[in-house]
Amino acid sequence: HRCEKTPPAQPRSVFSIQIVEKNAEPEMTLLTYLRRKLCLTGTKLGCAEGGCGACTVMVSRFHSNRNAIVYLHHAVNACLAPICSLHHCAVTTVEGIGSVASKVHPVQERIAKAHGSQCGFCTPGIVMSMYALLRNNPQPMMRDIEEAFQGMMRPMIYNMILFSLMWQIEGCCGSRGKGDSTNSVQQLFDPSEFMPLDPTQEIIFPPELMSLSKQPLRELRFIGERMQWIQPSSLKELLQLKAEYPAAKLVVGNTEVGIEMKYKNQFYPLILAPAFIDELNSIQYTENGIVFGASVTLTLLGNVLHGEVNKLPSYKTEVFQAILRQLHWFAGQQIRNVAAIGGNIMTASPISDLNPVFMAAGCKLTLMSKDGKRVLQMDDKFFTGYRKTALKPEEILLSIEIPYTRKGQYFSAFKQSPRKEDDIAIVTCGMNVVFWEGSNIVQDIQLSYGGMASTTVLATTTPLLCSLGCRQWDEEMLQDACSYLTEEMTLSPSAPGGMVAYRRTLTISLFFKFFLTVQHKLAQETLETFVLAIPPGQNMDDVIGRPIMHLSAVKQATGEAVYCDDIPCYKNELYLALVTSTKPHAYIKSIDTTDAMAVPGVVTFVCAKDIPGSNKTGPVVYDETVLADEKVTCVGHIVGAIVADTPAHAQRAAKAVRISYQELQAVIITIQDAIANESFYQPTRTIERGDLTQGFQESDNILQGEIHIGGQEHFYLETNCTLAVPRGEDGEMELFVSTQSTAKTQALVAKALGVPASHIVCRVKRMGGGFGGKETRSTILSTIVAVAAHKVKRAVRCMLDRDEDMLVSGGRHPFFGRYKVGFKKNGKVMALDVTYYSNAGNSMDLSLSIMERALLHMDNCYNIPHVRGTGYICRTNLPSNTAFRGFGGPQGMMVAESWINDVALSCGLPAEQVRELNLYKQGEYTPFNQCLEQFTIDRCWRECMNISDFHQRKANVDCDCRQHRWTKRGLSIIPTKFGISFTAVFLNQAGALVHIYTDGSVLLTHGGTEMGQGLHTKMVQVASRTLEIPSTKIFISETSTNTVPNTSPTAASASSDLNGMAVYNACKTLLQRLEPYKAKNPKGFWEDWVSAYFDRVNLSANGFYKTPDLGYDFETNSGHPFNYFSYGVAVSEVEIDCLTGSHKNLHTSIVMDVGKSLNPALDIGQVEGAFMQGVGLFTLEELRYSSQGYLYTRGPGMYKIPAFGDIPTELKVSLLRDAPNEKAIFSSKAVGEPPLFLAASVFYAIKDAITAARAESGLIGPFRLDSPATPERIRNACEDKFTKLCPPPEPGTYTPWDVRV
Ligand SMILES: Cc1cc2nc3c(=O)[nH]c(=O)nc-3n(C[C@H](O)[C@H](O)[C@H](O)COP(=O)(O)OP(=O)(O)OC[C@H]3O[C@@H](n4cnc5c(N)ncnc54)[C@H](O)[C@@H]3O)c2cc1C
Ligand code: FES
Repeated sequence: HRCEKTPPAQPRSVFSIQIVEKNAEPEMTLLTYLRRKLCLTGTKLGCAEGGCGACTVMVSRFHSNRNAIVYLHHAVNACLAPICSLHHCAVTTVEGIGSVASKVHPVQERIAKAHGSQCGFCTPGIVMSMYALLRNNPQPMMRDIEEAFQGMMRPMIYNMILFSLMWQIEGCCGSRGKGDSTNSVQQLFDPSEFMPLDPTQEIIFPPELMSLSKQPLRELRFIGERMQWIQPSSLKELLQLKAEYPAAKLVVGNTEVGIEMKYKNQFYPLILAPAFIDELNSIQYTENGIVFGASVTLTLLGNVLHGEVNKLPSYKTEVFQAILRQLHWFAGQQIRNVAAIGGNIMTASPISDLNPVFMAAGCKLTLMSKDGKRVLQMDDKFFTGYRKTALKPEEILLSIEIPYTRKGQYFSAFKQSPRKEDDIAIVTCGMNVVFWEGSNIVQDIQLSYGGMASTTVLATTTPLLCSLGCRQWDEEMLQDACSYLTEEMTLSPSAPGGMVAYRRTLTISLFFKFFLTVQHKLAQETLETFVLAIPPGQNMDDVIGRPIMHLSAVKQATGEAVYCDDIPCYKNELYLALVTSTKPHAYIKSIDTTDAMAVPGVVTFVCAKDIPGSNKTGPVVYDETVLADEKVTCVGHIVGAIVADTPAHAQRAAKAVRISYQELQAVIITIQDAIANESFYQPTRTIERGDLTQGFQESDNILQGEIHIGGQEHFYLETNCTLAVPRGEDGEMELFVSTQSTAKTQALVAKALGVPASHIVCRVKRMGGGFGGKETRSTILSTIVAVAAHKVKRAVRCMLDRDEDMLVSGGRHPFFGRYKVGFKKNGKVMALDVTYYSNAGNSMDLSLSIMERALLHMDNCYNIPHVRGTGYICRTNLPSNTAFRGFGGPQGMMVAESWINDVALSCGLPAEQVRELNLYKQGEYTPFNQCLEQFTIDRCWRECMNISDFHQRKANVDCDCRQHRWTKRGLSIIPTKFGISFTAVFLNQAGALVHIYTDGSVLLTHGGTEMGQGLHTKMVQVASRTLEIPSTKIFISETSTNTVPNTSPTAASASSDLNGMAVYNACKTLLQRLEPYKAKNPKGFWEDWVSAYFDRVNLSANGFYKTPDLGYDFETNSGHPFNYFSYGVAVSEVEIDCLTGSHKNLHTSIVMDVGKSLNPALDIGQVEGAFMQGVGLFTLEELRYSSQGYLYTRGPGMYKIPAFGDIPTELKVSLLRDAPNEKAIFSSKAVGEPPLFLAASVFYAIKDAITAARAESGLIGPFRLDSPATPERIRNACEDKFTKLCPPPEPGTYTPWDVRV
């Protein structure tokens, strides 16, 4: 095997050399090969299932075809590309296109300087996607860029990335209005600085590979530890091999087989790789259609069909157009570049997007074996069972013929998934109707569905009934078809995948869409604004308030930024894999490691008795174990760990550990289970003000309501990772960890090892995102890795796979709110009695503080004279839930918005009018008796109304709603007030350590960690202004417990405030010491003044800060929980499809008060990132559990965070002007968490649209809508004649596939 790659000795240079790999291991992916064998760590591991794009590389091939030379450059997911599949390919990684040391590539430069990189973990993948796009098309259009990024997970800053790359494109203004950003974005960076793209400067395809590719193909065999990979050289050879080894697995793109092997415990000892066989790659044009070889990739399929659609009359390409539509929403481009059409058919997945189209179109399949060919039409007999087909074991699929359509034939395909972009279908279908010539009388109709059975199905009775008797395409036929479909497309109430009523409704709703489309055919034949407010006189060297680029942005873009798992391996280093419980509540009877220990390379199994110190752990109370000893209390409870020489061996052995259990009752999974069993942690918290009885008496009306708010997975791109290195003396241990809490990690590891904390050092360079998920839960993994390292006396590393991380680490608390609200006829709220329940899981973790914050935000921005809020923390058999951006605040406020919305609906008044009427005013008091000073919500409200042109927009929405029955628009304005400070008072402290060296360089250390939010950049800005020196002289290396001790976690949005003041204090101390030298030599330079060293002046200082006047007491409802509040307002407009439940985010305007911004580029990035994470929380992300607490959604395949397509078509972010905040460093304000809740504006815009849809069915007044507003919930809430046909199954009569926790 040869691949173009840089050698490990010079990993950062951009020239290419050849690597000859003589022992390619068939089980090894390109990603593992790059990271572990070549030590090229720029390419990242985010999910290992093709779902995030962090591992994107460019694979180039050379084709010499009829003397034409063709280079094919494709973005590919390295995590799914077997190393053996790359014979004769050139691989370009992020290290190969540019580096800080030599020269960065224009794409890397743009994404860095235009603030497109925050945590940076996904940046190399984004860079390589863009690079591959530009290699094929140096002048892409906006839609090309959006397509290139489909399927890439970007939790941080969506628009910033798009902006940064749009600058790449001359003359491209974008098709979604995003190009209008030019003037405003210009203020955040200077595009004239950017290097031009010069395609002639790109790396050439290696000539050695070119000449090798011209040689005749020969059979290749790669023999690995337990698997063989054969690449036959001809069709004949392939058929011969398939006859000899009928069980052998064919692999082309490996996008299905790779997942089966990694996540579904499948193992295939013999792989046949037919990717290069001509007959399987051919494209032939026949009289009836186009015949595609089975190995043709989906990208090529799309390109060919596009060409035909542009060339041929439209009536001839109805099926082609439907396939293109399906392909647009099919996976991401990296997958489509390698996945084959035959792979999709032969996987025989019941939710394949293409098979329903092929089936409804009557495509013909040619099958072949050594004994000859046969042709089958894809019909209801082709799929014989779940993932089974009519192929005989010795046969292969040779090709598929996709037919042309004729005049009078109409074809549509639909796919409904939770997220539009790159998501698996809930229901998918192909629909084909042929009319008698010149009439609207049906001659034939074929309807094929995916997602309604264990195979793709063909509706057999419905088409028959529609076409028999030559039915006209009219309302009567529609009604009959709907009733027949309702009878035919049934599902068991416990069907896998759940959403039973919704799926059944979809089959008829989608048919109705088809009906309307055909009827129609028969009848005829932006964006971002903010103002950079630098005072006119501010010195150019003073970087405060300037959009300084994230300090690591360029390194992140070149892949040189080092994350925990990028640290080179220590000598004799071992790898650890977790063994977790499969039961929710059980005693451990025995653990059998016999099979596990027999796996090659296994060194030991670590269990509770290997812990030398204490097995008790927990961030606040020690109510958890590091490793379960007697009992497990959730699926995913960590029982032990295998330590082996490689990740592959450790993970294989971990799966071979057998645990036997004695199951225990009760199993409590949901909040409702906990309420029924009174399973609560103590204490129960209450905040009460005023007199509820009086409040309800003074009210004209009283209403009661409920809302459930689902949890959320952090989905930081870098999963939890720890490297523990025993130092060999006195129990010393050094830990490199991806954590927000260095001090907590140090303390809990020391406790488990039984050594003083002073013997443990915890170091963090940077994290690939945290969002609260690495505040406490990361300590469990770190402790286990440390215990293992202690046991084997060698360095041990573990970076969790995505599925393990999602399984064990918990997320945002699901909440259930129940409320009773009293109000006047004009909508003025008089009294509120609200009860919150949170699902905390199997340990307390931070759940009390999270509930407290929810209660402290139960008012959101509304003044309620008489109020009582009570919070119950539910103990359940789920992995412990934990901190997540907003920390209970968003859940608290979401319930508030639910009751105020209900009040408006009940009064029949516009929601914005009722909200505005109830807003606080300056100087009023919250339910916890804190006075609202420097209150800016009214200003934010007015500005947001203006910027969004609210009133005109509302008139347009109303008009649109009147005109359209099956799509509805909705509009909403939502305010937020977020309290800043840790509610645990002692955490509101920070330290910093500043050293000045004799050459004038400054080493700055503070207690906060960098997770992409730009904290280090802001701290350098603070030090730079205070010391009055350029920021280039200041360096931050890392965060560590041996430089700044006893630090608070980087959390609660307070890190800039706390650490900023500590840095300021340290710098002030140093400045005072240098003052005499400055006075003596006022014209001198910094380097002259630091010669104070020779006078024995101490050039090192620490700084400390604690927030004054804090301390709230729940018992007496007195004292201040917060230092100050951050405010913001958002307006959102959406459009829903009442038939499918899909929605489009059309517009959002945000006005955010961030005080006097320390760095507007970083702050806008935070606003955007938080808002989009909120959009995920409230409209998209859904964790799905079985009734036994088994998490189904354990990767990007099933759990969807927002993609580029979810950004509102027009998104305007403004920072409130002239709003200095005297309570924080340089008048700034916290920004990390507060904007997240503004995404509720999208939720309530959806609710507004549903209200309009319900009105069409005569339904008015309050109704319940739980969060997230998924397509299923939206569709079910839009009650109509179709939903009535498919009522939900009676609760209690069946075991549902999933439960809402
Ligand atoms: C992130 C991600 C997103 C995805 N999104 C979608 C989606 O939106 N919609 C969708 O429908 N699917 C989706 N898939 C599934 C998958 O990508 C497709 O089914 C793809 O077309 C499989 O092609 P492949 O070449 O990679 O198959 P492989 O994994 O190489 O093979 C798949 C199966 O096909 C068999 N096979 C391949 N060629 C032949 C042949 N010539 N004869 C006989 N058997 C053969 C193999 O033996 C194997 O059983 C997704 C997968 C991933 C990882
Ligand atoms: S790591 Fe490969 S796509 Fe996520």
